[in-house]
Amino acid sequence: MVEYEKIRKIPYGGDYNPEQWPEETWEEDMRLLKLAHIDIVTLNVFSWAMLQSDDDVYHFEKLDKIMDLATRHGMKICLATSTGAHPAWMAKKHPDILRVTTNGMKRKFGFRHNSCPNSPAYQKYAVQLASKLADRYKSYDNIVAWHISNEYGGECYCENCENKFREWVKEKYKTIGEVNRVWNTAFWGHTFYDFDEIVAPSLLSEHLTDFQTAFQGISLDYRRFNSESILNAFRLEYDAIHAVTPDIPITTNLMGTYQPLDYRMWGKYMDFISWDNYPGADAPVEAAAMRHDLMRGLKQGKPFALMEQTPSVQNWQPFNTLKRPGVMRLWSYQAVAHGADTVMFFQMKRSVGACEKYHGAVIDHAGHENTRVFREVAALGDELDRLGDQTLGARSEAKAAIVFDWDNWWAVSYSSGPSVYLDYCREVQRYYKALFDLNIPVDMIGVEDDLSPYSLVIAPTLYMVKSGYDEKLRDYVKNGGRFLTTFFSGYVDEHDLVTVGGYPGKLRDILGIWVEETDALPKSGSNRFHYHEKTYPASMLCDLLHTNGAQALAFYEQDFYAGMPVLTKNSFGKGFGYYVATCSDNDFYRDYLYEICEEAGIKPLMDTPDGVEVTRRSNEKGSFLFILNHREDSYVASLPFAGTDLLTGKSYEEGDALTLEKKDVAILRLG
Ligand code: GLA
Ligand code: ZN
Repeated sequence: MVEYEKIRKIPYGGDYNPEQWPEETWEEDMRLLKLAHIDIVTLNVFSWAMLQSDDDVYHFEKLDKIMDLATRHGMKICLATSTGAHPAWMAKKHPDILRVTTNGMKRKFGFRHNSCPNSPAYQKYAVQLASKLADRYKSYDNIVAWHISNEYGGECYCENCENKFREWVKEKYKTIGEVNRVWNTAFWGHTFYDFDEIVAPSLLSEHLTDFQTAFQGISLDYRRFNSESILNAFRLEYDAIHAVTPDIPITTNLMGTYQPLDYRMWGKYMDFISWDNYPGADAPVEAAAMRHDLMRGLKQGKPFALMEQTPSVQNWQPFNTLKRPGVMRLWSYQAVAHGADTVMFFQMKRSVGACEKYHGAVIDHAGHENTRVFREVAALGDELDRLGDQTLGARSEAKAAIVFDWDNWWAVSYSSGPSVYLDYCREVQRYYKALFDLNIPVDMIGVEDDLSPYSLVIAPTLYMVKSGYDEKLRDYVKNGGRFLTTFFSGYVDEHDLVTVGGYPGKLRDILGIWVEETDALPKSGSNRFHYHEKTYPASMLCDLLHTNGAQALAFYEQDFYAGMPVLTKNSFGKGFGYYVATCSDNDFYRDYLYEICEEAGIKPLMDTPDGVEVTRRSNEKGSFLFILNHREDSYVASLPFAGTDLLTGKSYEEGDALTLEKKDVAILRLG
């Protein structure tokens, strides 16, 4: 998908499972899919049991036929390795393949994502299958990508994993003394004398619930170990395939803000990022936007693939609302607006049995093209044909960045106190939403990313400041950068050990403050503050802080800490450190970030009412302004630029009016 010579337009298609249907139906499927302008199918996602019936017994005949079917009909293929669900015989014959859950329950065969990543049998047979597939189909030049497994996830606590964890800990910390130090085992008399005394932190040991642990340090390390173990399983298959088809890019489908896997680390080992977008029916539009940006950021802004979305409806929500007319198209373009170079679905055709039979599909159980969903899919397919390759490879340019770090997320979730209402993703999304509402492009970055492209870096709830990150931030701000952070930041290092000397630890000099205490409010409780003639709420957490060089911009108005600063700004080198000591409302975030962006010279792309989203991507063909109307009514834009709408062919001068009906989209090529 990164090889644009093979793809002269946005690939359009998705998961297709003809092996679940009689062969006589396949030609009709192809007729329908072509009628819908589908040009790529993801094949072989869950066929391991069909492909292998014993240790060394493989059957590729049916897959051969399917590969030929797709090829004969001019489809590009995203070829999956099928290792997202292992066969029943394998579980019976090699029980080490079965996972153990956090409560010590050894699973039986069933469901999917069910293999222990450290199981020797799983590793052996997954790699063997991947290399056989690569070898067998390497001559198909319509394979445009490899899709390893499917939505990797979960955890395993089997004995095998526990042993591997001990090795991992030993490799990382070298001596048992260092392990005792970083896990602070002197607390509750946990001192270890030997590595083999260490057990996996689970409901059988350190945990009360998934996120309540007695030893955050141990639990954090197990998260890292589990994420790396599963990544290792991906990499084993990757290497096997790459050795045979080095020119075909390899991916696996990610899931946005999926907590168990450190996608930042995963991104390094994937040729391109792909992900599955399933927002809940009541999710605000910025939720999907943020996740697209997060996924784009995993490879420093390189375009990604939208691997799955539903054409109409899901089956696994409490109630499965239909995508209203126009919404599937709108959300497809929203993905493209944020960096997607594909528009793909789960699924091409509904199955007749099991739990996803009511999940939306291009081909419905009705079996023909006379459905609303089919018509919408076909219309978008036609439009994408006409759009061609214009936007492929285009990059977004942002001057503002938001830091999102998985280790930090884990640590915040594991923290016992200060408040159960603290949710890292929600805090990040508050700041994201403000910039989103202002049409200010954002890059979602990790702590390893370069800060120099940005005039503003926001790190909400940066609880964990890993070794060296304070130095990086210090250099950035000294050189003129603007850095903003919030309550519950700077407390601990990468081991969840508190940085003593006062909060926010190593960030104190950059921010010019000392946080002495933090008040956690009940859900309904709130304090308030005044800023530029407006009153805003202060909720959830309220830091009681002292300035230490910083300027105080606003003050609490209630309770015993009335008069203490709630917003501060510190001049540091050529730049500034901003601190927001509490949680407030959308108005506050929007107003405050607008002001800071202005100071930083960051301009909104366009001024629009709520619900009209604007982004920009550029490549050698031009610069494209995406205007997306998520509203329930039409919207008339007064264009700040001249350009041609690629979807309608209409040209506009600067200042012209452009009308977008509800749920409509314009892609203006500027100039
Ligand atoms: C995921 C999976 C698919 C399917 C869909 C249903 O994204 O990858 O196999 O289960 O969910 O929404
Ligand atoms: Zn295991």
